[in-house]
Amino acid sequence: MSGLAAAFDPFEGPYQVDPAEALRWSRDQLPVFYSPKLGYWIVSRYDDIKSVFRDNVLYSPRNALEKITPATPEAMKVLASYGYAMNRTLVNEDEPAHMERRRVLLDHFMPENLEAKQEMVRRLTREKIDGFIDRGRVDLVEEMLYEVPLTIALHFLGVPEDEIERMRSFAVAHAVNTWGRPTPEQQIEVAHAVGRFWQYAGEVIEKMRADPDGEGWMHYTIRKNAEIPEIVTDSYVHSMMMAIIVAAHETTSLASTNMFKTLLTHRDAWEDVCADPSLIPNAVEECLRYAGSMVAWRRETTAPAQLGGVELPAGAKLLIVQASGNQDERHFEDGDKFDIYRDNAVEHLTFGYGSHQCLGKNIGRLEMRIFLEEMSRRLPHLRLAEQEFTYLPNTSFRGPNNLWVEWNPEQNPERANP
Ligand code: HEM
Repeated sequence: MSGLAAAFDPFEGPYQVDPAEALRWSRDQLPVFYSPKLGYWIVSRYDDIKSVFRDNVLYSPRNALEKITPATPEAMKVLASYGYAMNRTLVNEDEPAHMERRRVLLDHFMPENLEAKQEMVRRLTREKIDGFIDRGRVDLVEEMLYEVPLTIALHFLGVPEDEIERMRSFAVAHAVNTWGRPTPEQQIEVAHAVGRFWQYAGEVIEKMRADPDGEGWMHYTIRKNAEIPEIVTDSYVHSMMMAIIVAAHETTSLASTNMFKTLLTHRDAWEDVCADPSLIPNAVEECLRYAGSMVAWRRETTAPAQLGGVELPAGAKLLIVQASGNQDERHFEDGDKFDIYRDNAVEHLTFGYGSHQCLGKNIGRLEMRIFLEEMSRRLPHLRLAEQEFTYLPNTSFRGPNNLWVEWNPEQNPERANP
């Protein structure tokens, strides 16, 4: 058992292949254990993960965006040369500052304010499908699942859409920098990209300040920064501008990719969804449970704590593995089985839980539902192509880099019924 704990490595091997399966032994025998390779305590059971999320004073989120692989002195120098000063946003802010800020910035995420987004997501999705429906074989990530969430995210934030390509390379660098294990050489390369991203985020903020009536959440945030700078601070605005790009789109792209991969490998479920679209909302929740895009998150103890029968010292860093909790058979019957009819699928932990729970969860869900509605209606004969899946090695963001699918365009339903 302690051998398994000592061998645990979230950057390679079984965790990269299937994080929930890789921690089955831990859920059964040692639900909280110290990983010497990572320097973190790993938490694998549903109830323990939920109780950590629930108490954000004892389990502070302050380390949520820390570099999980400490920067080398050379990489620190590179970052400093760009004036890099990533700090607190919402997700890694302690109370009471977090709640004060969250309350001020909440409105845009309310369901009534998301109605208008629905039409835009549908239009963009249809345009993308129109573009490839006669081709018979595409990489869905390249053709749709990357760009649509990014466009929606930029629109929601009010950031100019012509920045898509730059954002894309920056977002990957930010993810590797925060949750990956780059080699010392890669650290330098990543540090340059992150430094440029930081400066670029600053430029975008300046551009937005010049348009005081602009629409979107970041414009609103900038106006609040002018009104109540002690709550919506300058440092928050700059750090959030950088973090939100990844939070708002990478999460949704990867979750959508996982959803199609999962449904197409469980053909019965795919066919049921095609036959009865009313199954889609629960199918989306089950995909988020079974193959979510956010597989692990972080917390740090502010005092000695007891968790899963283990004594934790103050300052203990925790990796709470939602992917493992989501398949914990103590909470989900036959947790390792994919079942779109599961009645408690929505209790998954993929969006976190408690006072930091994902603010954008309904945007993510909306996009996933519309992707599935449109694809299952127009391409019910879709299947996965033969392929090797590749993933960006990191602790937290999960989804294949590409998803090749194929179908026979001759059998497209709209040809029979134009
Ligand atoms: C926080 C996951 C989409 C904005 C979080 C957290 C997770 C998460 C795990 C941390 C929760 C916690 O600490 O309890 C996801 C997943 C998504 C998604 C899996 C898509 C499937 C989005 C979108 C947006 C967004 C589309 C914005 C447009 C945020 C914000 C927070 C957050 C602002 C910080 C909330 C706070 O700390 O008060 N998300 N997210 N997310 N997410 Fe998401």
